[in-house]
Amino acid sequence: KISNIFNSKKVQHGYQLNVDSNFHGAIKTNDAEILKQLEIIDLTIEDLETIKGLQPLIKENLEGLVDTFYKTILKADNLKAIIDQNSSTNRLRQTLEKHILEMFNGIIDYEFIEKRITVAKVHIRIGLEPKWYLGAFQNLFSSLSKVINTNISDQVKKAEIMDVISKLLNFEQQLVLE
Ligand code: HEM
Repeated sequence: KISNIFNSKKVQHGYQLNVDSNFHGAIKTNDAEILKQLEIIDLTIEDLETIKGLQPLIKENLEGLVDTFYKTILKADNLKAIIDQNSSTNRLRQTLEKHILEMFNGIIDYEFIEKRITVAKVHIRIGLEPKWYLGAFQNLFSSLSKVINTNISDQVKKAEIMDVISKLLNFEQQLVLE
């Protein structure tokens, strides 16, 4: 069980990133291309451990993250139409909440990669062009950035965390846009 081994807690001066030494981030794939992609962005096992350490903070802020996401995309009538025709805001909200939380699992394995391929297929099926997907991702990145800014007080740590989150999101986009 990897879900309960982090004792992340709020302390007076901000979020305490407590990476449990029992948790080991993992890259479980033999796919040479994927490994090369990870190498190029220098996404390491240590990065994945940092990511897992952030998961409780992301969980706490999940509703706000998804709120902002929808507020923005529903302003675009073409995107609203895609949602109305293919899903519902409620269903998509749940999907996205689950997806964002899982992004912070700290493990990249077959399941993680397959899931991204499915997301890509669904987006192609509903006719969502890459430019809109990328725009939505930037929106998500800004929201995550706000969460980090509000909760992590140490400037060096903050910069390191933003770098790691940027790598994680970039990898996700590489997989989904392929
Ligand atoms: C489906 C994630 C952007 C519309 C999905 C699914 C995920 C996902 C995880 C579920 C795939 C599955 O069935 O397994 C994301 C992420 C985005 C993004 C991470 C960018 C940060 C968008 C945008 C739209 C959109 C901008 C705007 C129209 C949809 C729709 C579905 C879907 C309509 C089908 C949902 C359903 O079957 O109910 N997306 N998405 N997505 N997405 Fe996205």
